[in-house]
Amino acid sequence: MAAESVPDIRPLMAGFPTGVTVITALTPDGVPWGMTCTSLCSVALDPPTVLVCLRCGSPTLDAVLASGGYAVNLLHDGARSTAELFASGTPDRFDRVTWRADANARGPHLVESAHTIADCEVNDPHTVGDHCVVFARVRAVRQLRIQKPLLYGMRRYGDWAESGEDSNLLYDFIS
Ligand SMILES: Cc1cc2nc3c(=O)[nH]c(=O)nc-3n(C[C@H](O)[C@H](O)[C@H](O)COP(=O)(O)O)c2cc1C
Repeated sequence: MAAESVPDIRPLMAGFPTGVTVITALTPDGVPWGMTCTSLCSVALDPPTVLVCLRCGSPTLDAVLASGGYAVNLLHDGARSTAELFASGTPDRFDRVTWRADANARGPHLVESAHTIADCEVNDPHTVGDHCVVFARVRAVRQLRIQKPLLYGMRRYGDWAESGEDSNLLYDFIS
């Protein structure tokens, strides 16, 4: 019998453009970790729940699981270099960006690169193959600035072509 061929899903997902996030977490002893991530997905409105899929073995995933939380930093269209930095594997990535983590933060806030940040509490991690699906309850959402999102698709970064006429919509939704 012929062996079953295993499809490569990367061309499929390349045709599914998304926004770009940096998922961040602090280890219990305060070391910041973070990675560029496009697998953010909305799961439920009530209770407000999202998921991200993080590579097994990633130090960022280890920090997320150890601390029980993560911050979702939604990058704006001027933050492509931040996306590249947090996808590079560079160990000193947090020395090259401005970040803050106040008492209520679930992970470092990239205050210059993000337009919106959500603080999330992990409630259900599931390993699926080589990734961990990390469900989390959203505890707070903060919009830092009204700016168009950075996009990723077709294996490259892009930006939103339309003018920002409706940008207040997002602000109204969050506040
Ligand atoms: C646009 C883009 C999106 C990415 N999305 C994910 C993702 O959703 N999950 C993931 O595990 N890695 C993703 N990566 C790869 C990680 O950003 C990269 O492997 C990073 O170095 C991991 O950080 P770490 O050293 O903390 O593991 C993505 C990379 C890029 C460029």
